[in-house]
Amino acid sequence: EYHVHPKALHLQSDGPFGSFDRQQVQRGFQIYKEVCSACHSMKLVAFRDLHELGYSEAEVKAIANQWATEVPSVNPDTGEPATRKATPADHFPAPYANETAARAANNNALPPDLSLMTKARHGGAAYVYSILTGYRNQPTELVKKFPGAKTPQGLHYNPYFANLNIAMPQPLVSDGQVTYAEGNPKPTVDQMAKDVSAFLVWTAEPKLENRHHYGWAVLLFLLVGTVLGYLSYQNIWAEAK
Ligand code: HEM
Repeated sequence: EYHVHPKALHLQSDGPFGSFDRQQVQRGFQIYKEVCSACHSMKLVAFRDLHELGYSEAEVKAIANQWATEVPSVNPDTGEPATRKATPADHFPAPYANETAARAANNNALPPDLSLMTKARHGGAAYVYSILTGYRNQPTELVKKFPGAKTPQGLHYNPYFANLNIAMPQPLVSDGQVTYAEGNPKPTVDQMAKDVSAFLVWTAEPKLENRHHYGWAVLLFLLVGTVLGYLSYQNIWAEAK
């Protein structure tokens, strides 16, 4: 009764003809980079995958080189653990060294990897969008009815989250939290939430457009095959009345 279904979210990638709105997906990447990547890894995506979103080789190189977290490596002289700057071939580095460090920084909760988030949760992109825009005060009648459900210190009430109290503090708080390049919509909380959700559809299925295109080609092929089959059936049995 208190846990609610995701809100409706319409993206250009929806439906059998859907394709990515690259401007929007790029804005969503900017949100991941400037906000979400402080806590969430995205380990199935490599910097060079960004080419598909329209970033040039130089841009991808610069993005990798300037990434806030470096890539774990080994000092070749001493054999000691070290870090190095990311290259386009690297996957996005995790913000924390390990799960213990991640939990220590997040009230003992673990920020999940976001690569497949829109496939992993019921509702997909709409779920992510709803979580991001769903923070509010806990209804007082809920606490009256279920005193034990009162949002504990350090958690945040969000009716779109299955257990109603989420460890993630509201990440998109104010309009204009990021600055979009000229020619883009205003970065309202709602717009930023939509954009990062669109981006996470892409990370979870970068080949979505190919699947849509091949799907139609296959259906056309099967249709032609069916027509030819029917015509040859008629031809073969034409004399046999
Ligand atoms: C959980 C998205 C920023 C910390 C989640 C979940 C999503 C998400 C979809 C999963 C909910 C589930 O498990 O069903 C995002 C996006 C962000 C963002 C898109 C950027 C706009 C952050 C930041 C932090 C953070 C900046 C740290 C300050 C966490 C934690 C959880 C979580 C600790 C686990 C919550 C729990 O299990 O109660 N996030 N997040 N997130 N996020 Fe974020």
